[in-house]
Amino acid sequence: MKNLAMAGLVALMALSTPALAMEEDARTPVKMDARTQQKFLGMMRGFLESVDDMMSALGEGDFKEVARVAAQDLGPAHELMARLRAAGVPQDKIGEIARLVRQRMAKMAEESGGEEKMHAGMGRIVMQVLGGPIPGMKMGQGKAGGGFGGFGKVMPPEMHQMGMEMHLLSGKIADAASAVGKKPTAADYKAVTGAIGELTGQCRACHAAWKIR
Ligand code: HEC
Repeated sequence: MKNLAMAGLVALMALSTPALAMEEDARTPVKMDARTQQKFLGMMRGFLESVDDMMSALGEGDFKEVARVAAQDLGPAHELMARLRAAGVPQDKIGEIARLVRQRMAKMAEESGGEEKMHAGMGRIVMQVLGGPIPGMKMGQGKAGGGFGGFGKVMPPEMHQMGMEMHLLSGKIADAASAVGKKPTAADYKAVTGAIGELTGQCRACHAAWKIR
């Protein structure tokens, strides 16, 4: 019986596929090995969770939290930020590292440099702010574990660029949210939601351009 029900389901799916296949798919396929793909999609689901966190914080009028999520969870080096939090590094230091990494990424995006350079720069920034490597982590360990982010090598340069732009747009949300005073005005909400809309527009643009194979 169970098999019969399965067969029915499969037949139903087969019936509905032609309609789907007729919609044109203009996205460019990007090849990734299974493990990288799993990590990449996991990161994507994390992005959606962070957007949800940000919207919830916005609904509560908690602009400080909106700024934190934007700068740390959706910003450049979001994985590094998570590691710093897990290692118990104080929030103000994490904020400082986030700010410096972002400056660096903005520069890299202009120069369209490689991801390698970006990572070397991040290590230096961590050393500079903390006066040493991340507690409990040896130098270079982040790289061995797949790097901070580390998808730069599998993404075509144009896609990588879209990713960097996404992180920079998150930085703009952080700026807008940080500028909000104790009594948020309608204009503040407008500025912050507008900046969030630019970020989600970038998610959308990248999804329209690429798919994973
Ligand atoms: C640099 C390009 C790029 C950016 C920017 C981007 N994504 Fe993605 N995302 C992808 C690709 C490619 C896929 C896989 C799509 C496919 O193969 O059908 C994906 C898949 C996803 C998935 C599905 C995950 C799964 O398990 O299948 C979610 C959710 C997602 N993205 C959320 C987001 C959100 C939210 C943002 C913005 C904050 C975002 N993405 C920004 C490229 C991007």
